[in-house]
Amino acid sequence: MAALVNPSILSADFANLERDLAVISGADYAHVDVMDNHFVPNLTLGLPVVRRIVEVSPVPIDVHLMIEDPDRWAPLYAEAGAASVTFHAEASQAPVRLARELRAQGVRAAVALRPATPVEPYLDLLDELDMILVMTVEPGFGGQAFIEGTLAKIRRARAAIDAVGASTWIQVDGGVSRETIATIAAAGANCFVAGSAVYGAPDPAAEITALRDLADE
Ligand code: DX5
Ligand code: ZN
Repeated sequence: MAALVNPSILSADFANLERDLAVISGADYAHVDVMDNHFVPNLTLGLPVVRRIVEVSPVPIDVHLMIEDPDRWAPLYAEAGAASVTFHAEASQAPVRLARELRAQGVRAAVALRPATPVEPYLDLLDELDMILVMTVEPGFGGQAFIEGTLAKIRRARAAIDAVGASTWIQVDGGVSRETIATIAAAGANCFVAGSAVYGAPDPAAEITALRDLADE
């Protein structure tokens, strides 16, 4: 399967979101980071803004919820029109129930793991998950350095997924750039979030293509 590139609008200009969504029309999804100042020490945007982003975006929306109590809030993001909803394992009381609820709403359901959260418990639950997000930085901010130690987790997840022939995607988020993406792809990830690499590039559209090509090599 060809690599997917999902630019993170955390690095876009929040006063010009419609313009900054238009420039990523060549992306696979737009990655929208929802932060609540509790699960992570940063605050971004919520449901009313996501509803408008869904309306103006040229590509489907991949919501990454870095919030407490996703069991309560995640279904509302599905209802808001997101195509994929990712919640954090560390914050959910009942991840399987939540994933089933999201799928019943017709969206892709995904669980995210902080760098120190083990993937193994979720490898027995691949049938329940459309995607596992392996965080490759501590969530909260764009522009951080990729954590090399997460590569082993990606490799273990890829081996487990291939062993049973599951279709679960492996997404990575944090420090993805031209320098790191080939190594991460070789470890087994197929879906790449990139914030500062795309929006910090002189030509964001060309950067998406360059990243995808490097991942596919
Ligand atoms: C961080 C967010 C990321 C962020 C990645 O917690 O989840 O999506 O935008 O930023 P970069 O690609 O700059 O590391
Ligand atoms: Zn994210």
